[in-house]
Amino acid sequence: MSIELTTTEELRQSDNTGLQTYLNVVLKRRSIRKLTSGPITDEMIRHILEAGRWSPSSGNTQPARIVVIKERQNEFWDFVANTLQQKLQGDQLERALNRIPGYRSGIFTLLFYEDTTISNNPPLPGGAEIWKNFAAQAMGIVQSNVWNAIAAAGLAASNQHINLQIEDELREFLGVPATWKSYSIFPVGYANETPVERSRHPHESTIFYEHGPLEESVEVLSQE
Ligand SMILES: Cc1cc2nc3c(=O)[nH]c(=O)nc-3n(C[C@H](O)[C@H](O)[C@H](O)COP(=O)(O)O)c2cc1C
Repeated sequence: MSIELTTTEELRQSDNTGLQTYLNVVLKRRSIRKLTSGPITDEMIRHILEAGRWSPSSGNTQPARIVVIKERQNEFWDFVANTLQQKLQGDQLERALNRIPGYRSGIFTLLFYEDTTISNNPPLPGGAEIWKNFAAQAMGIVQSNVWNAIAAAGLAASNQHINLQIEDELREFLGVPATWKSYSIFPVGYANETPVERSRHPHESTIFYEHGPLEESVEVLSQE
């Protein structure tokens, strides 16, 4: 079978199927760091999280755990700001603190964790390193599915890693087990900024049909 669709535009215009609807959601998902509040129902949040719950994982081991902060949104972001002040300095602190109002003024916050008891006790052979890697891949897919679902709901988010500076303090604040490894924080709300323009490597430089890259396409990618 020959595959002739090469650009996102062509794909977009190709038909009106579920694929196009899905691609439009994928393209709509952007990193939005300045958020605002707006209408939300618990059902919407639950549906967004269903996209994470139904994500695939190695051997269906489902290592992802997600903490939802909504009622404690202000308390949570106060805690993050105060804790970062004890951990970071100079430009790094200033940059982190400057961004927090944009997160706080959203609606809710998601914290992604891996329950490491699963990869530490692999259900199938393969070795600990492979299962750790599988868990990390599964975590990436969960976050991606949830982020796309947020976009499909007309909401916006970004993928933040200030959790890495304050992992122990966060664990205590949230009451999560010591066996949960913190991955990321997604502040979620309605978009209150237009995202910066972002491009991706051309289709021809990263996707290869039937064989690996010809020499000239390797050069195209390395020049970008
Ligand atoms: C694994 C991963 C880590 C990221 N870490 C951060 C982060 O700590 N802070 C942030 O503002 N954006 C972070 N991003 C967002 C990327 O910068 C962003 O996805 C990329 O520049 C493409 O822009 P877009 O999301 O608007 O399409 C991260 C994205 C991924 C996938």
